[in-house]
Amino acid sequence: MNIAIIGKGKVGSALGARLASAGHKVVYGSRAPEDHAGTVSQAESVQGAEVVVTAVPGTAVVPTLEAIGEDVLADRIVLDVSAAFTPDMALAYPNDSVARRVQARFPRARVVKSLNTMNYTIMVDPLASLSQATVFVSGDSQDAKATVKELLADLGWTTKSILDLGGVESATATEHLAPLFFSTYAALQTMRFNITISR
Ligand SMILES: NC(=O)c1ccc[n+]([C@@H]2O[C@H](COP(=O)([O-])OP(=O)(O)OC[C@H]3O[C@@H](n4cnc5c(N)ncnc54)[C@H](OP(=O)(O)O)[C@@H]3O)[C@@H](O)[C@H]2O)c1
Repeated sequence: MNIAIIGKGKVGSALGARLASAGHKVVYGSRAPEDHAGTVSQAESVQGAEVVVTAVPGTAVVPTLEAIGEDVLADRIVLDVSAAFTPDMALAYPNDSVARRVQARFPRARVVKSLNTMNYTIMVDPLASLSQATVFVSGDSQDAKATVKELLADLGWTTKSILDLGGVESATATEHLAPLFFSTYAALQTMRFNITISR
């Protein structure tokens, strides 16, 4: 599968390396490709991509996709892994989510929220370090979610660990787990954990 990853930071690099090793063609998009080896412009990265991963600050996702263009994004799967904070690390959208805002702004794109409730090391290493784990999936398109679930399997997530919460509006629930994530980090002094649903 052709995958564009916007943002070659911690998350983008980790996901890209693992997905490339699983056989996918990964292209990284950057605001300044001349300064970041192995990247092209954000607009160039999405050419021919079936899946566009938004690995940029949550508050930058909509402006970034607006610069790429609504027509370019039509029918693409947008896998939004972002978290959105104010400068003092409060939730940027206390009554909303990045994913829902992206879906509303780009109705022809197929937005799926996932992987946003864990550290980037766990995103690509869910089973080696954890006896059980949960990765949430939210999105309106069943086809898009099926594709994302295949990518999650390539990242190491078992079928049992994938919890489909329903439509894109459910992304608000997982984006709002961020305070729990950071409180747990403060208590444990490590990010090597996963927020898991026991059942
Ligand atoms: N780190 C984690 O463990 C983790 C876990 C869950 C969710 N997330 C979320 O995943 C996203 C990426 O996180 P990350 O840790 O990979 O961040 P990062 O290491 O800081 O990388 C973010 C990348 O976004 C790009 N970018 C594009 N527009 C930007 C803007 N307006 N301001 C700053 N950077 C911009 C930058 O690439 P260019 O400069 O090349 O454009 C940068 O490399 C964020 O939304 C974060 O909240 C992170």
